[in-house]
Amino acid sequence: MQSLPAITLRPAEPSDREFLSGLSPRLSGVPGPAWHDLAAMEGFQSRYMAATFAAADKNAQTLVAWSGDGRRLGYVHMRPGKDGVTDEPCGYVSLLAVDKEAEGSGVATKLMAAAEEWARARGYRFLSLDVFADNRRAIDFYKRGGFGSETLRMVKPL
Ligand SMILES: CC(C)(COP(=O)(O)OP(=O)(O)OC[C@H]1O[C@@H](n2cnc3c(N)ncnc32)[C@H](O)[C@@H]1OP(=O)(O)O)[C@@H](O)C(=O)NCCC(=O)NCCS
Repeated sequence: MQSLPAITLRPAEPSDREFLSGLSPRLSGVPGPAWHDLAAMEGFQSRYMAATFAAADKNAQTLVAWSGDGRRLGYVHMRPGKDGVTDEPCGYVSLLAVDKEAEGSGVATKLMAAAEEWARARGYRFLSLDVFADNRRAIDFYKRGGFGSETLRMVKPL
């Protein structure tokens, strides 16, 4: 694990596009369902990214984390959503990824703290997200941050 001197966050700009899509293999490469191969995970990620950034929600926000020496380290994308039980407005973290080099150095913690701050500032009671059930590292990270499981989607390959 390396420690970074200073991590700053700023809203994503058009010039960050390549960096954001460059982290897609990090997201499609997480431990996924046994019944989907890497090509299926890549296809999912690519469609999901395209849909997320095509949705012109002015209340959505993408934050990019920077190192003190000017390297992009990771990003988070959050948008307004609806609570699955009460239907009330809540925050939704659609994407979170950290560059392999920067993993384990507190970047994601900082990005999630900003997502939480964003959700609180909008008056939401909840912040939610989806994560693949086998993505243990991410799940443990979210649990340490105070998230709990609400629903679990079950699939039977036929
Ligand atoms: C999930 C992810 C965002 C977490 O990022 P990160 O850089 O590890 O996060 P942080 O460094 O802020 O915090 C990770 C914690 O795990 C600890 N850690 C370090 N190495 C670890 C390891 N090998 N396995 C598990 N935890 C580890 C860190 O010390 C830190 O502990 P703390 O919370 O007690 O301080 C990152 O692993 C990632 O980008 N994964 C691929 C994409 C992904 O899965 N995104 C989420 C999709 S829902």
